[in-house]
Amino acid sequence: MPNHVKIFDTTLRDGEQSPGCSMNLTEKLEMARQLEKLRVDIIEAGFAISSPGDFESVRAISETVRTPVVASLARLTQKDIDTAWDAVRVAQHPRIHVFIATSPIHMQYKLKMSPNEVIERVRTLVAYTRGLVEDVEFSAEDATRSEWDFLARVFTEAVRAGATTLNVPDTVGYTTPDEMFALIQYLRRNVEGAEKVVFSTHCHNDLGLATANSLAAVRAGAGQVECAINGIGERAGNAALEEVVMALKTRAGYFDAELGVDATRIYRASSALSRIIGQRVAPNKAIVGANAFAHEAGIHQHGVLANRETYEIMSPESIGLPRSQMVLGKHSGRHAFDERLKSLGIHVSPEQLDEAFAKFKALADRKKQVSDRDIEALVLGDRLASEEVYALESFVVNSGSGIDASANISLKKKDGSIQKASALGDGQVEAAFSAINAIVGLNPELRDYTIHSVSEGEDAQGEVTVKLFCDGRMVTGRGLSIDVIEASIRAYVSGVNKLLID
Ligand code: KIV
Ligand code: ZN
Repeated sequence: MPNHVKIFDTTLRDGEQSPGCSMNLTEKLEMARQLEKLRVDIIEAGFAISSPGDFESVRAISETVRTPVVASLARLTQKDIDTAWDAVRVAQHPRIHVFIATSPIHMQYKLKMSPNEVIERVRTLVAYTRGLVEDVEFSAEDATRSEWDFLARVFTEAVRAGATTLNVPDTVGYTTPDEMFALIQYLRRNVEGAEKVVFSTHCHNDLGLATANSLAAVRAGAGQVECAINGIGERAGNAALEEVVMALKTRAGYFDAELGVDATRIYRASSALSRIIGQRVAPNKAIVGANAFAHEAGIHQHGVLANRETYEIMSPESIGLPRSQMVLGKHSGRHAFDERLKSLGIHVSPEQLDEAFAKFKALADRKKQVSDRDIEALVLGDRLASEEVYALESFVVNSGSGIDASANISLKKKDGSIQKASALGDGQVEAAFSAINAIVGLNPELRDYTIHSVSEGEDAQGEVTVKLFCDGRMVTGRGLSIDVIEASIRAYVSGVNKLLID
């Protein structure tokens, strides 16, 4: 019987807590829906006690998704555990994920607890958690730098107290595949009650070994891998879900593993996340990078044309990357547009279809050919749009060599009033952002500004992402237009709306 490996996705917890990856509630819900369609086994929805916003999103995700288990992280304290339980209790399949550090350095300097105190805490609080919920995951933080015999004692106590999953995190990304294999094997042999529980791993990528270490754990019998879409997470990130999944699928015989994940949803989940957090993956990123399935060298192209398997170990379709299709244009009808949405796996209500089709037509008027990427950007952008306090009414910008750039911006407020301001700047974008600040009465710090073209060609749409920081909060604004200045203004206005509403 192949080993069933559960995929535990931590994009919304470990991923979301990393710099530049924060998401608001709408964005987290969109991501949770993507993960449900990807059929991950467990969604770690957040760390409920860390903030009221985290609590609210764990609760909302618990109410929204039905198939996967929904987990909240909690330290081994009663308050953390109670809060986690409050947030996930409404889920169809709730889990509480408790953790405490077990390495000498963490126990001495961070916890200031002796090994025996840690054991006692595990005994009482894992049992307390199990009194609330049947599905209890226990993590020994910094497991890979812990003493193995102590780790086995801690895990034995956790199993006695009712833990159902034992997680072995490589918290600081320090271990190697051989060590991980040996550690999991050792724990499976030395933890009392090991046969009753699932062993899991959670690897960070500080040495670029997160995927390799996770796969080594599977080889040693781990039944759960914790990972994140596009490998986001603390510091160098977590093991990338797409890499772990495609390695286990492509080399299923070697790993003797089977998964419940629908890999054909990987591309969509990855591009949705990139768009939401405004972080593109590197072009050469395994599986989801723009070049992952591109064959440039003549000799490779020749081979692929003769037989794809000469240079392709998996097909683009296996991750849901559509091979290029006919582009749509201004003569394409509603039916063709609807069909294209379906083939892209985008499901919309009839009202949303009307709205999306109107936007598609407007775009097709300005742009000869509308590609699949344009359509995805258009529809997903709409789904993520937050409520608007201000909407762009019109703008005029001017710049040239030897003169200051200037911008006149006109925004329509929710109450219908039109508000205008002008400003100068070193460039058009700066001038436009200053004019918007003057209208909305905020002066956020622009922490990041990125622009990329959604498709190819001079008439490609520009997609701009801004990260705005104001009063201790960071928000991501997005804007899309053929005109990059308009895309920049729209992105800034969308960020400002979030600051004013969320
Ligand atoms: O890296 C880590 O150790 C963690 C635990 C909380 C699982 O994220
Ligand atoms: Zn982690």
